[in-house]
Amino acid sequence: MADFSNTDFRLDGKVAIVTGAGGRGNSIGRAYAVALAQAGANVVVADLNGEGAQKVADEIVTLGGKAIAAQVDITDTASVAAMGQQAETAFGGVDILVNNAALMVEIVDKPLIETDRARFDKGMAVNVWGAINCAQTIAPLIAKRGGGAIVNQVSAGAFPAQSFYGVTKIALVGATTTLATELGRQGIRVNAIAPGMTKTDAGLSLTPDDSPLVQMAASRTPIQLRDTPDALCGALLLLVSEAGRWMTGQVLNVDGGWVMR
Ligand SMILES: NC(=O)c1ccc[n+]([C@@H]2O[C@H](COP(=O)([O-])OP(=O)(O)OC[C@H]3O[C@@H](n4cnc5c(N)ncnc54)[C@H](O)[C@@H]3O)[C@@H](O)[C@H]2O)c1
Repeated sequence: MADFSNTDFRLDGKVAIVTGAGGRGNSIGRAYAVALAQAGANVVVADLNGEGAQKVADEIVTLGGKAIAAQVDITDTASVAAMGQQAETAFGGVDILVNNAALMVEIVDKPLIETDRARFDKGMAVNVWGAINCAQTIAPLIAKRGGGAIVNQVSAGAFPAQSFYGVTKIALVGATTTLATELGRQGIRVNAIAPGMTKTDAGLSLTPDDSPLVQMAASRTPIQLRDTPDALCGALLLLVSEAGRWMTGQVLNVDGGWVMR
């Protein structure tokens, strides 16, 4: 038995893919990619927006970290396979997958009762299939390295789901526990983070601080309702590092206590 050490949070020599890390300027994916690099990981900054991904990868390299950019469509199996190949070529394998890419602003402007089949299929394809598709393709690469971790980005908006977006995220909670069950014997832990109202460009455009929803939610949240993306990074480092080695199939709510479970 070894005593716990803070170095258990370190990720030196590990390779991490973060999807949805290059889109808007101030995003959770960017914060995750920077935090993983600062913990010592080699990071693949992946996004549909290849130019944005390159910008974040360059930023990490300027900070002294190791990163490459990958243009990827997480709904497309060949595109995800190419992303895995890029990771292997650049860094020799994959240990960590963070399924952060999603549609949010794009699917919250209509109630579920008015969501037609095309919109439903698109939302589910990106937010649920996208994460499963990445897990299917990348888990064998993680297993080849003896195991690792997958983190799915869900949302406080799934507890309870009160929108089509929330429906996609509670489905992803189900995928998280299922993948945790299926991949555990390969040494792959699968957990989820459920952020609250995070101050990203996307989040602030959706719910400005002065919106009635924010005011109402803030009044019944024990500590501050909103925080910046870096406030989520401690949870991420716990879930992907040796420090979290006994955790799988869990959802960590990081939201000031807005959702308590
Ligand atoms: N901001 C919040 O308040 C909040 C709260 C809870 C959960 N979340 C979740 O956190 C994650 C990031 O949110 P954000 O606020 O940084 O939003 P964001 O819109 O900046 O990030 C989403 C990213 O996903 C990318 N993406 C979309 N479709 C893709 C595809 N098919 N393939 C690859 N990439 C694709 C986008 O280009 C974008 O960069 C999302 O999963 C979101 O649902 C956000």
